Amino acid sequence: MVVYPIITTRHAIGHFMQGNAQTIEQWSRLERVFSFSVSDARKLITCFHEEMKCGLAGQASSLKMIPCYVRRPTGLECGSYLALDLGGTNLRVLAVELDGRGGANISAVSRFVIPEPVMHGSGEALFDFLADGVLLFLEKHGYNLRQNHDLAFTFSFPVEQSAINVGILLNWTKGFTAFGVEGKDVVALLREALVRKNIKNISVTALANDTTGTLMTKSYDDASCDMGVILGTGTNACYSENLHRIPKYSVSDDGEREMVVNLEWGNFDKVEMNGYDQELDRATRNAGLQRMEKMVSGMYLGELARLVILDMIDNGCLLQKKHRYIFEREYSVTTELLSQAAGGEDFLAGFGLENATDHDREAAVRISHIISRRAARIAGTAIAAVVTWMDAGFERHHTVAVDGSLFEKFPGFRTNILHILQELLGDSAEKIALCPAADGSGIGAAIVAAVASGRSGS
Ligand code: BGC
Repeated sequence: MVVYPIITTRHAIGHFMQGNAQTIEQWSRLERVFSFSVSDARKLITCFHEEMKCGLAGQASSLKMIPCYVRRPTGLECGSYLALDLGGTNLRVLAVELDGRGGANISAVSRFVIPEPVMHGSGEALFDFLADGVLLFLEKHGYNLRQNHDLAFTFSFPVEQSAINVGILLNWTKGFTAFGVEGKDVVALLREALVRKNIKNISVTALANDTTGTLMTKSYDDASCDMGVILGTGTNACYSENLHRIPKYSVSDDGEREMVVNLEWGNFDKVEMNGYDQELDRATRNAGLQRMEKMVSGMYLGELARLVILDMIDNGCLLQKKHRYIFEREYSVTTELLSQAAGGEDFLAGFGLENATDHDREAAVRISHIISRRAARIAGTAIAAVVTWMDAGFERHHTVAVDGSLFEKFPGFRTNILHILQELLGDSAEKIALCPAADGSGIGAAIVAAVASGRSGS
């Protein structure tokens, strides 16, 4: 009788120890597959520079290095502009006033959620939706439909520009698939839609990427800003390049010395993917493309976490097998939920798992940290790569304008970027300032239009 409890206890301890050892092994495996060491970072920088070089020379490269046909502003640009901003799940129409002294103001804005069928239907329906948005905005804010207005179009997808207001969509990203748009000039498609809706008073004078808008917004009042970064639903960056370092661009004699270049860094493909990254990529509509984006951006971090959670359940390290079905729906774990977990909120309760153990709750937080930490370290390394491309010897200060929900809201994301910059660059990291630049895709588009029109005060 006395023996039983002892044996039972031994068994219990044995089982616990075994389970624990297995759990410890699984966690260290997870840490390992999502690690991104300083030596990985240094390799990434070398590959990034090679790809930048090829992209600028017009050779095959996963970095498209797209000239944007605009230079940075002087701060003297002025005037009133409309901006149309398409880049994620929302469409925005804005009125922006530039005061010619580095100040910008949004005087009116309308927001429209883009319905799923519009994102995945015909290009014509999508552009009709944009034109309807413009019309509703003009009517709501009492615009005279006979008076002409310049409109800047922020279209945040990979677009090969051939002028400030001409650009061909290379391929959709961020889950968009509207057909009949890839390979077409998106400004022409917008103009045709405006004509279909009988809107005659709008001239589309500029086309901009959200990264360009972000760079322009900050550099409007800060001349040291030479890079714009988006860390949101998608990820990308642009920077100011010397014209003579863009071999694929034939320099015209208009006195310009610099041009903003859109890297489209979300497509960088020389960063090693682990099994979860590969599984995620395979199930996307654009498999094989936007590899770095799928490891870094808000559209995908939640999905990566979901794949990890399923694996940890299968391995007996999280929750119970009967809970598996809760996480089986693709994209049911959003990056917003992950961000709440990282901030210490009970993420599992949101899935009806109020009675989860402390171990399970801690595990959810840990998964969130592991995935977001790698994302931030890759993003920080890419920032270091672009800054060192511009200024290898750190001869000047660089302000990097950053916009997007990951940077603004995800607990620890910004700190993790700063850490990797410090690890990579030592004291020189102090020469890089990361500055939030909210609303770049609205205000910045207006600045692009103003620079293009040459409208500036004195
Ligand atoms: C697009 C970029 C854009 C980025 C951030 C990416 O998916 O390809 O053009 O700048 O998302 O919105």
